[in-house]
Amino acid sequence: SRPAGPIDRPRRLRSTAAMRSLVRENSLRPGDLVLPLFVREGATENRPVSSMPGVEQHTMDSLVRAATEATERGVGGVMLFGVPEHKDAVGSGATDPDGILNLALARLRSELGDDTVIMADLCLDEFTDHGHCGVLDADGRVDNDATLVRYREMALAQAEAGAHLLGPSGMMDGQIEAIRDALDGAGHEDTAIYAYTAKYASAFYGPFREAVDSSLQGDRRTYQQDPANGREALRELELDLAEGADLVMVKPGLPYLDVLKDVAAASPVPVGAYQVSGEYAMIEAAAANGWIDRDRMILETLLAFRRAGASTVLTYYASEVAGWYRDGLPTALHEFL
Ligand code: PBG
Repeated sequence: SRPAGPIDRPRRLRSTAAMRSLVRENSLRPGDLVLPLFVREGATENRPVSSMPGVEQHTMDSLVRAATEATERGVGGVMLFGVPEHKDAVGSGATDPDGILNLALARLRSELGDDTVIMADLCLDEFTDHGHCGVLDADGRVDNDATLVRYREMALAQAEAGAHLLGPSGMMDGQIEAIRDALDGAGHEDTAIYAYTAKYASAFYGPFREAVDSSLQGDRRTYQQDPANGREALRELELDLAEGADLVMVKPGLPYLDVLKDVAAASPVPVGAYQVSGEYAMIEAAAANGWIDRDRMILETLLAFRRAGASTVLTYYASEVAGWYRDGLPTALHEFL
């Protein structure tokens, strides 16, 4: 007769590091990660973003250095956000070939060529004085179809500047179709679209507002999704796919892992997650207090996105984490290879 005790012992597979490595289901590579970067017009020195310790508004030169370093470390791509000197009601700087974002895209493309994937945030909020992602109608509401006209122009400016991948993040209806049509009509069939498919009206974007000097009046609840809703994400996915999205994204990340998992299960195109500014700020704040093991927590959160089905993860930690692979692995990293 067998001794008392359980027959099933899952702990057997956890008993040694080698055993754990053998049965590990998910991993993280530098190439899975995308680094968001901010570039400030007219800047002569970097400006730290106080709510995101370690993140800066770059000058053009330091942007090039940061993107080059990330590329050398094997990061999968960089996502660029511009911080213009002047903002106006229609976000003129977004479509000006000499606007900061377009200049920065051109500069990065000439420095890095095709060595990394150069992505552009395609949205008006960094460029409008009211801080909304589109243009406003006479009653002050975000005008969907008038905004699409601006997105078409913005897409062309970014493609002409040399962006490989455009990231429309404004949650306007029909934005993927409009941008695809504009690109194809101008011979930019090869410029890809990374759709912010399920993007929620989230408090987790708080620190980003400081990062882009946003002066948002009101909130984004009439165009970004309600945090209470999951099903809606699948409708947005269907639409973005039908309109021609090449990749799709869920944002924010950690609070929406359920949405990410549902979208990943339903999507025939690669799915990404965005670990946004507020997620970064929470980790940094807790770490600064000595309350958590920062490096392990970073890796655990990034791995969670992979487990939920993300092939790419946008994270402000991308370059740092990729550097850990290059410089030799801290013990914490062994569990993630
Ligand atoms: C819109 C945009 C935002 C973020 C990325 N693209 C702000 C918003 O929608 O309010 C947030 C990213 C972050 O919080 O890290 N251009």
